Formats: sequence, structure tokens, C-alpha cells
Amino acid sequence: MPNARTTAGRVLHGSALGRPDLRIDQYDGHWLVQTRDGDFPDELRGITPGLARSLWWKRLDKTSKTAPQWIEGEGLEKKFLVAENDARYAIDFQAGYSQGLFLDQRLNREKLSRRTQSGDRILNCFSYTCSFSVVAALAGAITSSMDLSRRYLDWGKENFLLNQLPPDDHFFCKGDVMDWLKRFARQGRRFNGVILDPPTFSRNGKKVFKVEKNYAELVQLAATLLNEDGGWLLCSTNHHSLQEWSFETMLYEGIDMAGRNLVKSEAGEMPPEFVGDDYLKSFWLDVE
Ligand SMILES: C[S@@+](CC[C@H](N)C(=O)[O-])C[C@H]1O[C@@H](n2cnc3c(N)ncnc32)[C@H](O)[C@@H]1O
Repeated sequence: MPNARTTAGRVLHGSALGRPDLRIDQYDGHWLVQTRDGDFPDELRGITPGLARSLWWKRLDKTSKTAPQWIEGEGLEKKFLVAENDARYAIDFQAGYSQGLFLDQRLNREKLSRRTQSGDRILNCFSYTCSFSVVAALAGAITSSMDLSRRYLDWGKENFLLNQLPPDDHFFCKGDVMDWLKRFARQGRRFNGVILDPPTFSRNGKKVFKVEKNYAELVQLAATLLNEDGGWLLCSTNHHSLQEWSFETMLYEGIDMAGRNLVKSEAGEMPPEFVGDDYLKSFWLDVE
């Protein structure tokens, strides 16, 4: 694991072994094996209870999006906890395709913790289970988390409670991010930092969001909400086939369209255990 205070992480990223179809993550000793093409790798059977508490398998298929399947070891009937540095998160292997914490964003969460000052107002768009918000709140920020899903926002509030953070001191906005950003602009809301980590594609009724088409507008709306004397944006995407320069170009376009100036751009990093793969593109942009 990355450090003694962290109990979840990637155990094996297959690209490093010439097996790009294989990944293994572990959450408090429960191993989640993920394959893109093949079936469960039978050579892993028998590693419980010595190496792992339990063994689960998920096919990496975004069209069927099935939940992990139990293979051997301890059963898991409800949520359980993992730690990452000072934060605690609820993990659920029964919740569907995603388990509650995106492990590839660990270094961005650590950077967020270092960048946040007590009293900052931080807006987390596409917040999922609010892991970025928890980190910012632990550093003293007042957070606003936005997501289409009530269930994920409730899971986020549960994560706040696990960290002794009263959810009532923070804001949870259910609905479409683009709509909320326009509403916040009309209300004159301002933030020290805004986190943008949308899915590659999303549909909300008739509205469609595509990273390659709509990211510049997303940045424009977010940049408009930064404090008048400046702030930062964390812009991230896991769109595998989008070139990094093309993503960066959209970010600069968005800042331009908002009438703001870019002061500094710093690329975010993927955790070293994801060796051999750099699909996650992220940039920290200081804007005035
Ligand atoms: C890739 S996850 C975000 C992961 C999150 N940033 C994290 O680090 O844990 C995408 C999230 O965006 C939400 N979502 C998708 N389309 C949306 C939209 N148009 N407005 C608000 N939320 C949306 C989904 O419900 C999902 O929780």
C-alpha cells in the first residue's frame, strides 16, 4: 500500500506485465480482480485467507456494467470502510459497477488536501460519493458537491459522517452540473476552487454531455464562478483516446471564453502503482 495509513490501492496494473486486460485492486484486504476480455484468471484461486480476505471478479465492460462477483473467501453483505491518509470511505461491492472510491485519483486528493486552506469554498462537480469533498472539508473548507444521483450524494453524506464532518455544514446539490453552474452564476456564488471530473459521456433526459464536445463550456461556466481575485480549477478526464494536448486546448479555450487569465497550469499525476498507463489526464489551473 502507498503508506501505513492507507488501506486501499491498486495491487497490480497488468500493463506493467504485458497484461493490459488485467487489474487487481484491494480494499481493506478484499481483492477485486478486473479483466477486460478474459474470464477470471484461475491461477489466482486459493490466495484466501493467506494473501487476501476475499477474492472478487468484475468484467471491465462499460456496456453491461455488472457488479463484482464473489469468487472465494469472506462474504461481504454490506458496506465496509477503507482509509486513505486521514480520510475514511464507505466501500460497497454490491452497489454495482463502481465501489465508491476511484483509486486513480489518490494523488489529486492528496494535492487537494495540501492546497486547501481553512475557510475556502470548494465546489466539487460530478462528485459521486464526495471523496474530493471529504478531503477538502477535512482541511477546513466549506464544500458544495453536485451530482445527478441522490443515492451517490447520500453515500457522500455517509462519508462525511464517517469523518466526523457534519453534512449540514456543507452543501449537496442534486441535478445537472451545467444547470447548477448557470444557477450559481446568476446567484453570484463564488469559490476558491472548482473540481471538474465528469464521466466521458453522460445523458440526462435530452441533455448529453461528451468530454470531447462540451468540456470547454464546462470550464467556462466553472471559471466564471472563481473568486474575482483568482482561484483554481482541477480539470480531469479518464477519456482513454483523447490526446492530452487536445484536452489541454479545451481547458484553455474555456478559460478564455470566461474572460479569465491562466496564471499557471500543472499536470496532475497518476499514482505510481498504475505503472504503464496514463489514461487519466488532469490539470491544476491557477486562474485570475
Ligand atoms: C466519474 S464519476 C466522478 C468521480 C468523482 N469525481 C470521484 O473522484 O469520486 C461521474 C459522476 O458524475 C455524475 N454525473 C454524470 N452526469 C452528470 C451530470 N450531467 N450532472 C451531474 N452529475 C453527473 C454521475 O452520477 C457520477 O457520480
